[in-house]
Amino acid sequence: MLDDVLDDLLELTVVGSFTRIGYAIRRRLHDWKTFGPDALRGTTVLVTGPTSGLGRAATDEIAALGARVILVGRNVDKLTGVADELRERHHENRFPIVEADLGSLASIRAAAERILAAEDRLDALVDNAGAIFPERHVGPDGIEASLALLAVGPFALTARVLPLLEGTPGSRVIGVTSGGMYTQALDLDDLQWERSATEYSGAKAYARAKRAQVTLAREWARRTAPGGVRFNVMHPGWADTPGLAEMLPGFHRFMGPVLRTPAEGIDTLVWLVADPDAGLPDGRLFLDRRERPFDRIPSTRVDANDRRRLWEAIVDLAGVPDPRPSPDPAGR
Ligand SMILES: NC(=O)c1ccc[n+]([C@@H]2O[C@H](COP(=O)([O-])OP(=O)(O)OC[C@H]3O[C@@H](n4cnc5c(N)ncnc54)[C@H](OP(=O)(O)O)[C@@H]3O)[C@@H](O)[C@H]2O)c1
Repeated sequence: MLDDVLDDLLELTVVGSFTRIGYAIRRRLHDWKTFGPDALRGTTVLVTGPTSGLGRAATDEIAALGARVILVGRNVDKLTGVADELRERHHENRFPIVEADLGSLASIRAAAERILAAEDRLDALVDNAGAIFPERHVGPDGIEASLALLAVGPFALTARVLPLLEGTPGSRVIGVTSGGMYTQALDLDDLQWERSATEYSGAKAYARAKRAQVTLAREWARRTAPGGVRFNVMHPGWADTPGLAEMLPGFHRFMGPVLRTPAEGIDTLVWLVADPDAGLPDGRLFLDRRERPFDRIPSTRVDANDRRRLWEAIVDLAGVPDPRPSPDPAGR
């Protein structure tokens, strides 16, 4: 009980919570479960963006727990390098690669078709790939790039591999989001920065798209019957990755000494994948294995109507049949 109060107080500090300080304190406060080398044996886990930073760390950890890991990324050479390393380390051939640019719907469709044809189960889909786009631009489908990569693409991938997830008991979808989303509200009238193109900021577009990702996860959970696929999001705090160094160099330099390692950043992700009981009930946001609030400032709150509007807009952009057309009227 006192542990939880201390944890909540730490959360209020933001810097204390998001840095390695938060991770170290919480690790000591709570009796975190550890997982044996066969904890995920027999399962299949898909990781997007496994070639760098957090995705690479997550792939290493999940592979070490015995899972078959489908490596989904845009660069075949890098994917092959990761798969070769894993095969050498584990002396097992359980790391298929699937090329996909998560910012391109045609690429996602082709990747999903390959996955559906090759796999007979999917225990977890980890939506990790991400980037910040300093200038506003549209991707190959005419969709603003941040929204395309961080919200529309992962939604399309999830919708397309849903039959595999639904056929696998206990399956789950886990989005890697960002604490940056706390700073931004959704702008449902201008999701793609069309009207406000001159005010575009890469960091704000990233934060809004991450808020969209979180909002969609809540809506997936609300629209899925209990006992079905589990949808949650986690954020890693601030972790020292090539992406952070490249996209936010000033922040990376300033926070350097207290940034988390990638392994610390993805500890909660691995827990959500590996612990049969983690993330229930679903539709929640986690950091350091504990549920965290969706909002830190009231103006960012998203109500049921906003969630429905976002869902419908993203279904439309993703070019997939609505995967959950009938929400539970009681809502949650
Ligand atoms: N680091 C942090 O402190 C932090 C904090 C909050 C949230 N996050 C989130 O964590 C996730 C991973 O970030 P990171 O820090 O590990 O960054 P990173 O080192 O840059 O890794 C990003 C990964 O995403 C892949 N990727 C980027 N664009 C892609 C596309 N269009 N299609 C397919 N794959 C694509 C990259 O592939 P390539 O190797 O081919 O480039 C790479 O594997 C992101 O969603 C990020 O927003 C990170």
